[in-house]
Amino acid sequence: MNTTLLDTLAKQLMQGNKGLLAMDESTATCNKRFAELGIPQTEAYRRKYRDLIVNAPGLEDYISGAILVDETTRQSTDDGKLFIDILKQKGIIPGIKVDEGAIPMIGFPGEKITEGLDGLADRLKAYYTQGLRFAKWRAVITIGSDIPSLTCIKSNAYTLARYAMFCQDAGLVPIVEPEVVMDGNHSIQKCAEVTTEVLHTVFNALYQHRVDLEGMILKPNMILPGNDSAEKPTADQVAEATVKCLLRTVPATVPGIAFLSGGQPAADASERLNSMHKLFDDVMPWALTYSFSRAVQQPALELWNGKDEHIAVAQEALVFRASCNSAAKMGKYTAAMER
Ligand code: 13P
Repeated sequence: MNTTLLDTLAKQLMQGNKGLLAMDESTATCNKRFAELGIPQTEAYRRKYRDLIVNAPGLEDYISGAILVDETTRQSTDDGKLFIDILKQKGIIPGIKVDEGAIPMIGFPGEKITEGLDGLADRLKAYYTQGLRFAKWRAVITIGSDIPSLTCIKSNAYTLARYAMFCQDAGLVPIVEPEVVMDGNHSIQKCAEVTTEVLHTVFNALYQHRVDLEGMILKPNMILPGNDSAEKPTADQVAEATVKCLLRTVPATVPGIAFLSGGQPAADASERLNSMHKLFDDVMPWALTYSFSRAVQQPALELWNGKDEHIAVAQEALVFRASCNSAAKMGKYTAAMER
């Protein structure tokens, strides 16, 4: 394993004002988002959509790495240019989602375990040859009356650690994503407790599996109340709860943390990331940025709506959201930037 290369790559992904773009919706998820807007759910339309994204002018000013899904790695523009090559030409490092989705965990009602370790070493080798340099694996932790169970947390943590080790062995930086989802009516305090437990367990598993902590990136949730909770914390309260939790659980040697958005409204996600930098820049040992999917893409997807004549305006909206989040990473985002 070449830890120096991995460490350099991880730092490159976290550089300056930049964040990651998670354009790795599985075919099922992408189709679901298309269906909500009446966009045809075909390979041709998924290709058009990914074409719009990778070719968005100025995306490279804000995005250091783009997480793709397997289908996208083989797709190209109308004139035959692979999307991977377009990203590389723009200086955006291409990455790949390698988990095969979260399935119900037998014996643990309401809980999930992520699949995809079988054959992973070979898939990673092939992805490396295709030019992909980092990977992502998402574990799902749900809060409910008796869940999450310790078994679910531990199983997912071990799976994440095994995945991370496979990635580093193949020369790809692992993005380790244990997502405590926002479904439910739990309090912000409950989310903090569960996320703290999950992150302690994940870093213990990473240590036990001999993962190079300098050559990985953590992709966590922000600390937020459940979607059905009446609590409405301010951005500063979310920032405080989130950074406190991360300071307690994430070793200082980890180069970077890049949040998922989890279904938060786009402007809220920017404001909360901004508050973290505004209030805690002095005490955070790692780079702190974004790896959003919905909070960067959703407004663009709605504007595009499957129509060629809307591509330019959708691209502008996509790059605009990325610019807001990059401003937030520098603690310079303001609500006045929204239009
Ligand atoms: P969201 O930002 O929409 O939560 O997606 C991030 C992601 O990569 C989920 O795996």
